[in-house]
Amino acid sequence: PVTVKKICCIGAGYVGGPTCAVIALKCPDITVTIVDLNKARIDAWNSPDYKLPIYEPGLDDVVKQARGRNLFFSTEIDKAIKEADLIFVSVNTPTKKSGVGAGFAADLNYVESATRRIAAVATSSKIVVEKSTVPMRTAESMRTILEANSKPGLRFDILSNPEFLAEGTAIGDLFAPDRVLIGSLQTPEGKSAASSLIDVYAHWVPKERILTVGLWSSELSKLAANAMLAQRISSINALSAICEATGANIDEVAHAVGKDSRVGPKFLRASVGFGGSCFQKDILNLVYLSESLHLPEVAAYWRQVVTMNEYQKRRFSKTVVDTLFNTITGKNITVLGFAFKADTGDTRESAAITLIRDFLSERARVTIYDPQVDEAQIWLDLQEALPDTPLENIKKQVIIAPSALAAASNTDAVVIATEWKEFVEIDWAAVYGTMNKPAFIFDGRAILDADELRKIGFTVKTIGRGVAF
Ligand code: NAI
Repeated sequence: PVTVKKICCIGAGYVGGPTCAVIALKCPDITVTIVDLNKARIDAWNSPDYKLPIYEPGLDDVVKQARGRNLFFSTEIDKAIKEADLIFVSVNTPTKKSGVGAGFAADLNYVESATRRIAAVATSSKIVVEKSTVPMRTAESMRTILEANSKPGLRFDILSNPEFLAEGTAIGDLFAPDRVLIGSLQTPEGKSAASSLIDVYAHWVPKERILTVGLWSSELSKLAANAMLAQRISSINALSAICEATGANIDEVAHAVGKDSRVGPKFLRASVGFGGSCFQKDILNLVYLSESLHLPEVAAYWRQVVTMNEYQKRRFSKTVVDTLFNTITGKNITVLGFAFKADTGDTRESAAITLIRDFLSERARVTIYDPQVDEAQIWLDLQEALPDTPLENIKKQVIIAPSALAAASNTDAVVIATEWKEFVEIDWAAVYGTMNKPAFIFDGRAILDADELRKIGFTVKTIGRGVAF
């Protein structure tokens, strides 16, 4: 097998950045260059005061140790491709917005142009690794493009190495992964390329956690893992609706169910719905795959996970309207949290966006606070959620507050949309004094102590708790 000395990572996003920064940290003998078309993003990765383009606990520490030593961020894509023995393709693969498969299939445009770039500029043989989450058999298309467009005599081995990190805990996940999955053709050449990549991970990952499988199993495993994780959330959220209607408590139910070692305790928290760039996209991708394979029952089964998630978000915003005497027109609603989960600034597919869109269509006034999401991003997301409303009209209905306390004061209702720890620590008694009465709290993440809040005087509605209020 080739000993990897130089790695190029195409795509300096939430996956490429942290993943390859950790590889550089753990493999001082390998030079890692992370490249991107987006100059602003690369500049941020290179910023002298470590104002990195993504917020991820522990990431700045990793970058501080490795940047300039054997970790580089650059827009010189061709140069990095030329020099590398191994190239990670870690570009975005969003859901297609138009054309065949619109709304379901993955848009492979970015993967294809990165692949074409590799073919065009490579002057030596390469191991090309799919890091992006891709539809099955993408490796085949990549191989065809590489072989048809490259200089004669070069060899390209394609590996699939999907990433399982979770935003918010990416560094911990990368330091101690449950598993690293490497898929390759089961030919001697394919297996040899896989061992080159194994040697990279073996710098810090125990051998028994590095799994080698066929290419297609590897590609499908990533979609399957996300589908099953999201399915647990939709299952618990479906049960949360029953809890609210009956007086059962979803935390007690989840605890009791999760104690069964066959089920396990993780990923059983009821919430206002899952978000993030991956779960919905990857399930829709699986639905599309199932339909293309003429497996409509399989497609319908997985599609329901997404349908349930949409229902959960709608159900929650309806609870807010119903509870506030069936109208929120002109009322002040404070939404705490805009990121799709705590410990990230990522807002892609965040449930908060859907809730706010619903509140705005009811003509409420909405105040928003999130500790990590900047204002410009919030305006971008709201504009995208309400394409027919000019931004200046949206701005008439929305205030972005500088702190949780400022956001929660002088309002009619507070909605917890993201499970940021600082929301638990707010001086709720002080907030109560400033609010219109009755003062409402809707806890979409079940993080607040509802009994304590009720003692203060709040009317509290917690997701999945059927207590009368
Ligand atoms: P991202 O959008 O944060 O980053 C992708 C980057 O690729 C962007 O900065 C973009 O400018 C760059 N790019 C696109 N085309 C390029 C090209 N031809 N040349 C150079 N740069 C190019 O996306 P993210 O979140 O990092 O996701 C990347 C892939 O990883 C996706 O397929 C996603 O499904 C997958 N994934 C994401 C996870 C997450 O938590 N975000 C977890 C596991 C997998």
